[in-house]
Amino acid sequence: MKTHKIGIIMNGVTGRMGTNQHLLRSVAAIIKQGGIKVSDGEVIMPDPILVGRSESKLQKLAEMSGVMRYTTNLDEALENPGDQVYFDAQLTNLRAPAVTKAINAGKHVYCEKPTGVSTEEAYELYLLAKKAGVKHGVVQDKLFLPGLLKLRLLIDSGFFGEILSVRGEFGYWVFQGFDQVPTQRPSWNYRKEDGGGIIIDMLCHWRYVLDNLFGEVKAVSCLGATHVKERVDEQGKPYKCTADDSAYATFELASGVIAHFNSSWCVRVRRDDLLTLQVDGTKGTAVAGLRNCVIQPYGGTPRPVWNPDIDSPIDFTEDWMTVPTNQIFDNGFKVEWEMFLRHVVLDEPFPYDLREGAKGVQLAEAGLQSWDKRAWVTLDELPV
Ligand SMILES: NC(=O)c1ccc[n+]([C@@H]2O[C@H](COP(=O)([O-])OP(=O)(O)OC[C@H]3O[C@@H](n4cnc5c(N)ncnc54)[C@H](O)[C@@H]3O)[C@@H](O)[C@H]2O)c1
Repeated sequence: MKTHKIGIIMNGVTGRMGTNQHLLRSVAAIIKQGGIKVSDGEVIMPDPILVGRSESKLQKLAEMSGVMRYTTNLDEALENPGDQVYFDAQLTNLRAPAVTKAINAGKHVYCEKPTGVSTEEAYELYLLAKKAGVKHGVVQDKLFLPGLLKLRLLIDSGFFGEILSVRGEFGYWVFQGFDQVPTQRPSWNYRKEDGGGIIIDMLCHWRYVLDNLFGEVKAVSCLGATHVKERVDEQGKPYKCTADDSAYATFELASGVIAHFNSSWCVRVRRDDLLTLQVDGTKGTAVAGLRNCVIQPYGGTPRPVWNPDIDSPIDFTEDWMTVPTNQIFDNGFKVEWEMFLRHVVLDEPFPYDLREGAKGVQLAEAGLQSWDKRAWVTLDELPV
């Protein structure tokens, strides 16, 4: 058996995303399954080294994940030629400087989104990686959600006819940390000065979801809000919220499709899932959640008539068909990790590069500008 051992410097793994999605559910899971099988006699085997600021946290994480190598010294880790890949899931505003360092040390790089705090910073990162000739990638996990893969299938099979519009509803109530109910997101998310804000966080996702499924985003109109003004941090101290916690954004796509996404950490859920996408077409409609997707074809569409004087004769939740789950869906983060490692080792194509990452940041920045100017903002093409 030929084993391609690949050393991965994993920075930011003590965080929420780093620990759960990237280390435990992806890299450690790949090791546990015996690596990525390339052929009958060939396998790619990750050999991670965990990087963080706290030795005790790293030690605990090492025990939990079975990954034995860890360090608090990133510079030293970057000097090891045996570790070819650098991964970053640190706070957003630390990303570009750390990834720059890794590229300059000759590492291939894979990182969380957003890839920078401005389009300029994120695009510079792309140019740097391209010039250095290293392989590069960004997390675009939502594309691998079973619900969205089902949508992809519906699009490819022509279910919708002409697609008219996409309605995205994302969000849930994030507790402020008062009244003994702990909050479920990190406090920096609500502080602009620490890289927080839902526009920079979520519009990066909506860019690649829309671009890949429905057409390139051409322009955005966005209104942000900071609905909740005060929250409690990890130390139990109240702090003032300085970042947007809700965004109401409309997107024009090159395909003519109109998309509107509401994103909010101040909304209670009365829909099928934490994220739902309703796609309306001339021949049918689909509503996808994280894992499931329901459809209503033209011939199965009820014919409502406006009459508030009687209870509705139609139960609007009833006339939908569930798209069957015909395959086993692996964790989306893991699927993308496997694709990226195959890209590094076997040179297989990997479309989700740092330019795509910069496009996400570009949409987020345009959203913030639109809110500030109270105007539509058009997106320029970022050169390849
Ligand atoms: N793909 C997704 O769906 C998704 C979801 C959530 C967050 N993210 C992104 O992942 C990144 C991490 O988010 P998270 O929710 O895991 O955050 P988190 O606060 O839980 O983790 C942050 C990580 O950065 C490290 N860090 C390094 N220097 C730090 C400093 N000076 N202060 C605080 N932490 C420091 C922490 O130790 C920790 O490992 C963000 O860029 C975020 O945008 C992506």
